[in-house]
Amino acid sequence: MKLTVVGGGSTYTPELVDGFARLRDTLPVEELVLVDPAADRLELVGGLARRIFARQGHPGRVVTTSDLDAGVEGADAVLLQLRVGGQAARLRDETWPLECGCVGQETTGAGGLAKALRTVPVVLDIAERVRRANPDAWIIDFTNPVGIVTRALLRAGHKAVGLCNVAIGFQRKFAALLDVAPADIHLDHVGLNHLTWETGVRIGGPDGEDVLPRLLAGHGDAIAADLRLPRPLLDRLGVVPSYYLRYFYAHDEVVDELRTKPSRAAEVAEMERQLLEMYADPALDEKPELLARRGGAYYSEAAVDLAAALLGGGGSPHQVVNTLNRGTLPFLPADAVVEVQAAVGPEGAVPLPVRPVDPLHAGLTAHVTAYEDLALDAALRGGRDRVSKALLAHPLIGRYSTAERLTDRLIAHNREHLAWA
Ligand code: G6P
Ligand code: MN
Repeated sequence: MKLTVVGGGSTYTPELVDGFARLRDTLPVEELVLVDPAADRLELVGGLARRIFARQGHPGRVVTTSDLDAGVEGADAVLLQLRVGGQAARLRDETWPLECGCVGQETTGAGGLAKALRTVPVVLDIAERVRRANPDAWIIDFTNPVGIVTRALLRAGHKAVGLCNVAIGFQRKFAALLDVAPADIHLDHVGLNHLTWETGVRIGGPDGEDVLPRLLAGHGDAIAADLRLPRPLLDRLGVVPSYYLRYFYAHDEVVDELRTKPSRAAEVAEMERQLLEMYADPALDEKPELLARRGGAYYSEAAVDLAAALLGGGGSPHQVVNTLNRGTLPFLPADAVVEVQAAVGPEGAVPLPVRPVDPLHAGLTAHVTAYEDLALDAALRGGRDRVSKALLAHPLIGRYSTAERLTDRLIAHNREHLAWA
């Protein structure tokens, strides 16, 4: 089995490689190709990847290349984990929306739109080259904004599934709180990427007993504290929102907070500097502790599980992924991309039926879906008017003068990445 990681020079890669090494029975990778335009990073990360494989007695070969076409040749699955413009572009996404009183975040709101506009054309070009090299290869997209990027891939007819680690994070957290094995927890997970709610926590599978009420009664304070949301809000919602919902439910507090504290991009850039220094040490042969301070916890386990299921070698039968709605959430268009539980196998992902969604969550989901549709249109066709329209459609923006001011900033800060600007 050959697996290719585009954006393989990312400091995240050792997390992934550690997962491939530990879970080699689930996913027997014979050749792991790391593709990245940054040759210096690739060398550091590739070296550590080889040492991790060697330490864990993994027989697989690690290859590094900056040649995308060569790297995807013959791959069974291609994982996309790239960041167009790097942390520098992320820093801008997190900064200029604040000047207009809006959240500055890399996937939510105006910053997320900027990221979508930079990313969609690049990902579509890569996917086209993957398809040319091997039309049967699966594309696993971890590149943000995952919902919009996956929708772009599916609309262009690619064999793609979108992946995020929010659900697996909750699964592990709830398993620990309830003192059961993670595999025994089945989440009723509904919504869009980075806009999801855990509406049920079932033991044993999709029809198992729902212990969410018990979980909230026993551990509601801890869960609320972790999400940095008020406990009464959780009781009001009756479900557990993902931490990205904090940008909605606590918008003004978050804006005040973001204005005063250092940006996440700056924190991550500093961590990346330290990580690369560590990776250069030939004595290091495991993923360093510091990596756990990044947001990608359990990403590798989710990726291994998904690749194993898609490539027919096993993996969990039900997984939370980003895929076509096809009527699963009846209040959304069939071609929307939703993040839900799905049956995953070599034919792809088929969403499991979802219980009726509370209008409180359904309304916001529909609103953001409309934004994502317009965001994709702006990413594919460009133009100032389309950008402004997408911002006007976003529930956190929605005001004409704000949308206009944000549009000017978005274009000014991203001109080098926008072919039409
Ligand atoms: C979580 C999200 C990812 C996001 C990451 C950011 O893992 O699911 O989509 O990329 O957090 O983490 P970072 O360490 O870069 O802030
Ligand atoms: Mn994510």
